[in-house]
Amino acid sequence: MKVGVPSEVKNHEYRVGITPVGVHELVARGHEVLIEKGAGLGSSISDADFVAQGARIIDSADEVWGAADMVMKVKEPVEQEYHRLREDLILFTYLHLAADQPLTEELAARKVTAIAYETVQLPSGMLPLLYPMSEVAGCLAPQVGAHAMMKAQGGRGVLMGGVGGVANAKVVVLGAGVAGQNAAHVALGMGAEVTLLDTDLDKLRMSFWRYDNRVRQIASSRLSVRQEVLSADMVIGTVLIPGAKAPKLVTDEMVAEMKPGSVLVDVAIDQGGSRAAARRPMPTRPSRCTTRSTIASRICLAPCRIRRPGRSPTQPSRMPSAWPTRAGAGRSRPTRRWR
Ligand SMILES: NC(=O)c1ccc[n+]([C@@H]2O[C@H](COP(=O)([O-])OP(=O)(O)OC[C@H]3O[C@@H](n4cnc5c(N)ncnc54)[C@H](O)[C@@H]3O)[C@@H](O)[C@H]2O)c1
Repeated sequence: MKVGVPSEVKNHEYRVGITPVGVHELVARGHEVLIEKGAGLGSSISDADFVAQGARIIDSADEVWGAADMVMKVKEPVEQEYHRLREDLILFTYLHLAADQPLTEELAARKVTAIAYETVQLPSGMLPLLYPMSEVAGCLAPQVGAHAMMKAQGGRGVLMGGVGGVANAKVVVLGAGVAGQNAAHVALGMGAEVTLLDTDLDKLRMSFWRYDNRVRQIASSRLSVRQEVLSADMVIGTVLIPGAKAPKLVTDEMVAEMKPGSVLVDVAIDQGGSRAAARRPMPTRPSRCTTRSTIASRICLAPCRIRRPGRSPTQPSRMPSAWPTRAGAGRSRPTRRWR
């Protein structure tokens, strides 16, 4: 099979869809790997690194897409790439179609065989290709939120760990899965008071032991989410219902009642976001927005969340299980919506 890896063109995406290790594996199994010139540079992987493992470097994206039987990417195709989608192509990448109707329709109309990384599932139910990016996104969320909480950034001016005689920041994490546990871990390490909410009590029980009862855990319900969100300095949204849009746990009314300058970091934005008014990133201002609701700004980082791992690309691109050629056996569950 000819496997093509084009450069990522989405705003602020610096990852690449394959590593030299992945190239080595594919070539050893008799496949041909075509990589667009410079595709790995954002992740500090040179063309020479790929060539050393048997890849062929191709000058243009059009040639890579045109020659490949299967295109392996990181992010979903953006509009400027739609014309390269064709009937006999296999597309293997993160797609998040539950929140992207135009792309869903485009893939269906062009009859592409598209397999979304985030829906590849092991018999245990684990999502092995989503997992590593959820770890990264979860770890980054408190860092990003802490920066946004600084007064100069329009935040409350609250320190995560507090100081002598002054309370530490209250961080509320919605969802105690992979991203949520990692977010809680980092926020706790930064000295914040952390609360985890989930509907799955086993996840909460696990975090009880994992954090030696230093993290508050609360069963997620409409009322508990509201109470916790309104008292938070930082809310981190990480809920997931696999293959579906994220449940809108944070309503616009809640956002309007949140403390002025509090921060909402919405890791689940790929799946439509945990907040009712969540939008996908703005092309020219990907990093942040303020909500419309009040003069005292409540900062919503949701629009920047979509490609947060792409902003720390070097580790994500090299993670042992990040990309399918190294992820071992996975059972694909094609996204039903467009089939
Ligand atoms: N923005 C990014 O760059 C990025 C990267 C990786 C993952 N993600 C997103 O992060 C989200 C979480 O991924 P994950 O791998 O941690 O998923 P996960 O399945 O491990 O965790 C999700 C958790 O949400 C919980 N949940 C579902 N409904 C809930 C509710 N009503 N209240 C509270 N909890 C609820 C589930 O029980 C589960 O524990 C997904 O939307 C994923 O797409 C984003």
